[in-house]
Amino acid sequence: MLKIGIIGTGFLGKAVAKRLLGTGHKVIVYNRTRDKTESLKNLGAIVADTPKDLAQGCDLVITIVKDSDAVESVSFDKNGIIDGKHEGLTVADMSTINPISSKKIAKKFLENGISMIDTPVMGGPNLAEKGELVVMIGGKKEIYEKYKQVFDHIGNKTFYLGENGSGHAMKLAMNLQISMLALALSEGITLTKRSGLDPKLFLDILNSTYFKTGMSVLKGPKMINGNFEPSFTLKMMKKDLDTINTTAKELGTSLPMATLANKIYQNAIDNGLGELDYTGILAFIERISKL
Ligand SMILES: NC(=O)c1ccc[n+]([C@@H]2O[C@H](COP(=O)([O-])OP(=O)(O)OC[C@H]3O[C@@H](n4cnc5c(N)ncnc54)[C@H](OP(=O)(O)O)[C@@H]3O)[C@@H](O)[C@H]2O)c1
Repeated sequence: MLKIGIIGTGFLGKAVAKRLLGTGHKVIVYNRTRDKTESLKNLGAIVADTPKDLAQGCDLVITIVKDSDAVESVSFDKNGIIDGKHEGLTVADMSTINPISSKKIAKKFLENGISMIDTPVMGGPNLAEKGELVVMIGGKKEIYEKYKQVFDHIGNKTFYLGENGSGHAMKLAMNLQISMLALALSEGITLTKRSGLDPKLFLDILNSTYFKTGMSVLKGPKMINGNFEPSFTLKMMKKDLDTINTTAKELGTSLPMATLANKIYQNAIDNGLGELDYTGILAFIERISKL
């Protein structure tokens, strides 16, 4: 039995913790806003007061927080993970963050005798609860292999990619796809409606071709029904576009579509749509099209 800590019990963290609670491992959780740990406590999780307390009682700590500032804060601020260090402690960062920041964080952990790998995922809370995430791993292979059973339980596919930061680098390239697909669907739906056609037919036709995607099949019907109940918020998608663009700049590359998408998602947030699901970008495209 392993002692596994989850820091960050938002949409994704809560679902991962639920999944791990079903494995017989001891699960300890921490969230900055304590209320969000209540349902996990009722399912048998132990709630820690600080990341330090959590780390002291764990073999493996999984961080699932907003961005690199949040990862640094739970790791290195007073009563952070680093203050709970002990022999064998490993940190796996499942947040989506800048790979360059991730490397720096891993280095600082290592200087303090703590191993770190990056383990970002594709798939949302629903897939996490079913153990069907896709996990991308960066960092020392032997550290990943030590905890492979945990990642195999959360995901149905894991890809080992190489040194620290490579999991995050790949994850950013994945989220670039997500942001673009949501935009392409939104503009297709809008154009169809403007042409006086039923957007359901747009989806039926698209989904009859090899251009269909999981998003057009699963999220498309919800989008045309105006159901933007969040599992991954639009403001979080924009956070990832910021990270994608910053990383591209740091790597000396230019991503014109990602730059444009960043502006569009920002405009949607400025229109008060940030708390919707990221597919709520449709609501913004419809608003500016006066539909
Ligand atoms: N949801 C998904 O489908 C999905 C899929 C793949 C990857 N991700 C990634 O997973 C991470 C979490 O996403 P989510 O959807 O679960 O978001 P969320 O529901 O908004 O949760 C964000 C979490 O980060 C914590 N947090 C934010 N700023 C913090 C800070 N400065 N210090 C400490 N904790 C902080 C929040 O704590 P409070 O509750 O106190 O605010 C909360 O636990 C993100 O990096 C996201 O990109 C999400």
